[in-house]
Amino acid sequence: MDDRTAQANTRVGTGAPDKTRYAALHRRFPTIFHLRAHARRHVPHFAFEYMDGGAGADSGIDRNWAALDAVELVPRYGVTSGLPPTEVTLFGRHYGAPLGVAPMGGPAIAWPGADAYLATAAQQARVPYVLSTVGGMTVEQAAEIAPDVFWFQLYRFAKNDHAVGFDLVKRADAAGAHVLVLTLDVPVRTTRAREVAAGIAYPFRPNLRRVLGIASSPGYLRALLRNGQPRFANLRPYVGGSTSVNEMARFLQNETRGAFTWEEVARFRDRWRRPLVVKGVLHPQDAERAVSLGIDGIVVSNHGGRQIDALPPAIDALPAVVAAAGGRATILMDSGIRSGVDVVRAVALGAQAAFAGKAFLWGLGALGADGPGHVIALMIDEMRAALGQIGARSLTEARSVVVRHPAALRF
Ligand SMILES: Cc1cc2nc3c(=O)[nH]c(=O)nc-3n(C[C@H](O)[C@H](O)[C@H](O)COP(=O)(O)O)c2cc1C
Repeated sequence: MDDRTAQANTRVGTGAPDKTRYAALHRRFPTIFHLRAHARRHVPHFAFEYMDGGAGADSGIDRNWAALDAVELVPRYGVTSGLPPTEVTLFGRHYGAPLGVAPMGGPAIAWPGADAYLATAAQQARVPYVLSTVGGMTVEQAAEIAPDVFWFQLYRFAKNDHAVGFDLVKRADAAGAHVLVLTLDVPVRTTRAREVAAGIAYPFRPNLRRVLGIASSPGYLRALLRNGQPRFANLRPYVGGSTSVNEMARFLQNETRGAFTWEEVARFRDRWRRPLVVKGVLHPQDAERAVSLGIDGIVVSNHGGRQIDALPPAIDALPAVVAAAGGRATILMDSGIRSGVDVVRAVALGAQAAFAGKAFLWGLGALGADGPGHVIALMIDEMRAALGQIGARSLTEARSVVVRHPAALRF
């Protein structure tokens, strides 16, 4: 049997509901970067700039990618056969792969209807789906679409003693969210130049360029007609039931200030009895602080390079955070994940799972509703191939491979 026949025989495409469809998509889009390249042409300019851009001149994004690419895994041969499984248990729940959909505000700008498409694909593949506070659907809708995999992310609404935040948490609890994620790494508002230059700013004003952009992207236009304009659906009850995007944006500008303090994290810990995760940690002392407050999980993240471009890559901070947590919390990671190989790199360095943001938006931008499922299937395929190649028969075994990681941060 030659290499190609062997690969064809062992290729699985798990996560995709339909293997034939997966194979057809795989021929056109064999990697996430093929999706990104197609998304650039397939959506209006402003939508691509929103999904693709980072802080500064995107150098934080570039460094995330370069840092992941620099992590080398030393294989062992003669120890394995076939493609290893990717199932994982996180916070006592069983998931299909150590890969999740990171919380994203306004993904419907990238592709109208995005939130539901992301949640549906995650539920089908049984991987974690994190709805953002400023996503385009409510916690109740997310729980209905993705009952087995739904997590909820919260930003800080400090006014009136956190009335809005506590109410959202109460709703997420009632809806059955499995995990609450508190984002720590947006203490200030920063600028993403490509977004601003593309006109994604408050107040939103349709301009001729944007209208023409939509008109010349038929798939996007159809999705827009089917799903309507992007809305911050979760916040509607707190804005007097308004559906105006500008009123929501004004509300957000007034209400969301700063990131959670540790005292505030402790208050959420008191209220939320299910697993609680903090997101955006890069310093091991912050990890220790989180663990001391009884936090169950930590997402090592630099917000995908979207805050400022001087933050270290999350993958380089990961080993120090894993060491600081010392097995007392589940360590998750995001920022720069573009392949199943990246996920295996993160797992080899101690993460229980990795999340992706932009990769899913590129999938949506290229393939619309089919995009998120294809991203998951691709990454699972790549993960299994990477595990098989390095001689790891399981995710656990991947943690004991020899890793060359010269840029790992030491504190
Ligand atoms: C368009 C977009 C919107 C985002 N919105 C949020 C958000 O509302 N809350 C949050 O905690 N993180 C948000 N993030 C950050 C992601 O959760 C995640 O940390 C990041 O995308 C991971 O990096 P990657 O895009 O390189 O995979 C957003 C990211 C993107 C790309």
